[in-house]
Amino acid sequence: MINDNLKSYLSIGSRQSQNCLFHGDNLNVLKSLEKRFTGKVKLIYIDPPYNTQQVFDHYNDELTHSAWLLMMRERLIAMVPLLSEDGSIWISIDENEVHYLKVLCDEIFGRKNFISSIIWEKKYSPSNDTKYISNTHDYILVYAKQKTKWRANLLPRTEAVNKRYKNLDNDPRGNWTSSDLTVKTPSPNYIYEIKTPSGRKCLPAKSRSWSIPKSTFLKLKAENRIWFGKAGNSMPRLKRFLKEVQDGIVAKSIWLRDEVGDNQEAKKEVKQINKEQVFTTPKPERLLEKIIKLATNEGDWVLDAFAGSGTTGAVAHKLKRKWVMIEINGSCEGHCLPRMKGIVMGKDKIGVSKITKSSGGGFKYFQT
Ligand SMILES: C[S@@+](CC[C@H](N)C(=O)[O-])C[C@H]1O[C@@H](n2cnc3c(N)ncnc32)[C@H](O)[C@@H]1O
Repeated sequence: MINDNLKSYLSIGSRQSQNCLFHGDNLNVLKSLEKRFTGKVKLIYIDPPYNTQQVFDHYNDELTHSAWLLMMRERLIAMVPLLSEDGSIWISIDENEVHYLKVLCDEIFGRKNFISSIIWEKKYSPSNDTKYISNTHDYILVYAKQKTKWRANLLPRTEAVNKRYKNLDNDPRGNWTSSDLTVKTPSPNYIYEIKTPSGRKCLPAKSRSWSIPKSTFLKLKAENRIWFGKAGNSMPRLKRFLKEVQDGIVAKSIWLRDEVGDNQEAKKEVKQINKEQVFTTPKPERLLEKIIKLATNEGDWVLDAFAGSGTTGAVAHKLKRKWVMIEINGSCEGHCLPRMKGIVMGKDKIGVSKITKSSGGGFKYFQT
């Protein structure tokens, strides 16, 4: 039971499941969740109305600037206690309010806990009727509850990344790539002459130094870990072997549609849930997959307080995370409910389902 005000619910699938879908205003629901969820939620992802001054089929997005900021402020403050000490919050937003939201989040989560402002390429083609510059990206602001305690998971190495490793000198340790041996913050002790196998004398470029002291360089050279190019005449570079690099790759701050999907892909996905009333502003499942995999592990709690068509809960469920979603409008019954039922019953074939065969489990549906 969540709390005494929320006694009536419908249980779908496994009765043991703790996942929850709430139909109601997230401010009230978030406050009612405090007792049960304080310090428990590893990831909060929200995709609130961007304040674009438009009226969408399923919700209204035309508040005044100050009313929007106040709406966000109250809700973000209610989310803070729910986050675990090693948790993080990710917020989708566009250029209408991003800079104001950044300042608001600095105030609420602390500037020192800011992690990144990710750029997501949401569409490819420019809108030709745009007078100025056609906007093709959204932002995702990321804050840790406590930056010192938060770490992003590494992303799996892709074939494309592995292909960058070659074995140009038939090294018995296998494929390798090379990296720059100089740094832009020079330390005087790290400026010394290096002689290439061809006999050319090299120094780091002006205002740079080598990244290692001479003793380390000599040790690495003796171990055949320095590359001077095929002719033995180039600036020295450090060999990095595929089998020695960490098991995954660090996420970057620009996310392209090829990798995580775009608005068009998201629309195609939600059409499969409700053809009559297609949800107008969904996010693609692949975008949520990347966020959830970076910020959580199996069994962690994920919360979305502006659920829309339910993408966050859908992907969290398929990736074996526990989830809570809140949605105020009719899309709760019209989209979130059938979408989550489909997944539990093993009927879902959308997005992430193509790679993860996850069905079963269940959730509780509360009407507040
Ligand atoms: C941009 S949509 C979210 C879309 C979602 N990420 C998806 O993939 O489908 C924003 C949603 O927030 C909901 N919303 C707005 N104010 C809310 C509130 N106070 N409580 C709960 N939901 C709210 C709107 O009804 C709308 O469905």
